[in-house]
Amino acid sequence: MRKTAKTIVTASAIAVLMGSFVLAPSVASADAAAGKKVAESRKKGNCFACHAYQGAKLPGNIGPPLVAMKARFPDRAKLVKQLNDPQSNNPDTMMPPYGKHEIISQKDIQNVVDWLYTL
Ligand code: HEC
Repeated sequence: MRKTAKTIVTASAIAVLMGSFVLAPSVASADAAAGKKVAESRKKGNCFACHAYQGAKLPGNIGPPLVAMKARFPDRAKLVKQLNDPQSNNPDTMMPPYGKHEIISQKDIQNVVDWLYTL
């Protein structure tokens, strides 16, 4: 009986420890939360006007859905570039050049990329 209780305590201690490892990235990612705010601000990113993503309210579909970003864009620089200057990938794109036209700051762009990697 005692032994079982001890096993349970040990098991839950391990679960707590593992939980803190699992939680660590999201705690460290205040930046992703800030990025989400920028992305969803109508005066800043307004990304959902064109992109669907999980949790987006009434998204548009001018751009592709933002899903599995880490798998599809393992190279962070590509995402940063897409935000800074999407015309460099496609001269005819509808996507605003957020960096080039200083629509949002470089810090905002980094935060938005952190947020994109949560999608
Ligand atoms: C006016 C519409 C519009 C807005 C606003 C917009 N985008 Fe885009 N975006 C597009 C279009 C269209 C594409 C498709 C690629 C192209 O046109 O070259 C695209 C492509 C992308 C891609 C590449 C996705 C892929 O699967 O290839 C990413 C990432 C992206 N946008 C992120 C964002 C983020 C983040 C925001 C907000 C800060 C944003 N976009 C705002 C229209 C938009």
